[in-house]
Amino acid sequence: MSVSGIYGRVLYRGRIVETGVEFENGRITKINKRVKGKKLRGLILPAAIDVHVHFRDFEEKHKETIESGSLSAIHGGVCLVVDQPNCKPMVDSAVRYFRRMERASKLYCDYSLNLALTNSNWRKIGKILREVGKRYFVPAVGEVFLEHSSPELQVRYDVLERVSRIHLLTVHAEDPEMVDNCSPNFKCRPEKAETLAVEKCIKILGRGHFCHISTVEAAKLISNTSFTCEVTPHHLLLSTRDYGRLGEFVNVNPPLRKKPLLEHLNSFDVIASDHAPHTPEEKKDGAPGFPGVETTYPLLVSLIKDGVVGIGAVEMLTSKPAGIFGFDKFGYGSIEVNNLANFAVFDLSREERISARRLHSICGWTPYEGFKAVFPSEVWLRGEPVVPGDVAVGRKLEI
Ligand code: DOR
Ligand code: ZN
Repeated sequence: MSVSGIYGRVLYRGRIVETGVEFENGRITKINKRVKGKKLRGLILPAAIDVHVHFRDFEEKHKETIESGSLSAIHGGVCLVVDQPNCKPMVDSAVRYFRRMERASKLYCDYSLNLALTNSNWRKIGKILREVGKRYFVPAVGEVFLEHSSPELQVRYDVLERVSRIHLLTVHAEDPEMVDNCSPNFKCRPEKAETLAVEKCIKILGRGHFCHISTVEAAKLISNTSFTCEVTPHHLLLSTRDYGRLGEFVNVNPPLRKKPLLEHLNSFDVIASDHAPHTPEEKKDGAPGFPGVETTYPLLVSLIKDGVVGIGAVEMLTSKPAGIFGFDKFGYGSIEVNNLANFAVFDLSREERISARRLHSICGWTPYEGFKAVFPSEVWLRGEPVVPGDVAVGRKLEI
């Protein structure tokens, strides 16, 4: 039985307090000043949960694998990810779900996987969920694409209506009628496509979660309902003005908008990266998506350091996603007695400039080149320091 502890400035129940945290077999047993543990420099925050990543693998190993994605995640202070099933092959059956979970054998952070909904598999979705659910915790059905360049991934509104009660749905809300394909894509994917899709989904579904909302109007519509939503770091920090800097790398769905959303941070529930790696060659061909799992928390901590956002924003990467997706039951999301001893430690005096060369994604580029960030100096998973050190002790969320 291993017992140990840490001591320092800990984010505990919304405030930074100087205290000790003791843990045993990976779970926190005590939080108080008398706990004697390894003294850590900097802020000891809960490690993050990124509920929206695309870790590719299989036929897309050249841009990311589950292993490389999880390595990137842990270096960004992320202890748990939710991978999306729009990979090749897509995860639309129990057999494919199990195959992808088996592929996730070398993990640096903990790993969970959503199940795809399509116009073809919706009649079986309840049965698939029951079968997969005997072994794994499935965070959600999603991300559900109302519009996608691959027709087999695009889901009709009437299909959504039929499955809305089965499980939590996470929706990529852009109305197919209002979206065209062009580059730069912000010229043909208008804001209205998002607000219209959000309006329709709210009426049809009754409950659910919206992925990467990119407009203030849609966030307002959602805030009057029981639905929850994500915002990405790129929609918070970037805008169409970054086209000059990013050039043909600018495409992402939903697209960058005229203004960054940072001043509206409080209108959203969760920050999620929508880590969607493509190689520079693919980006030059117009592929939509930005990598982000490793830079999201470091960018946020830099904003906290500069006083641009408050420490409360950390909840959007920790306790909020834990509550919405049910990860709190497993002990993720906050530094509390009985929870997992998962910490990301940030030394605010070690701010640096982001450089793709030092990131761990295979895709080899970042839209945040040169941005200020505070990367975690240490990351602890279940009571063990895993960064620095790159220890592959991540687990799958088994039932
Ligand atoms: O830009 C995007 N890329 N948006 C998505 O919703 C999917 C993602 C991808 O998988 O590349
Ligand atoms: Zn998406």
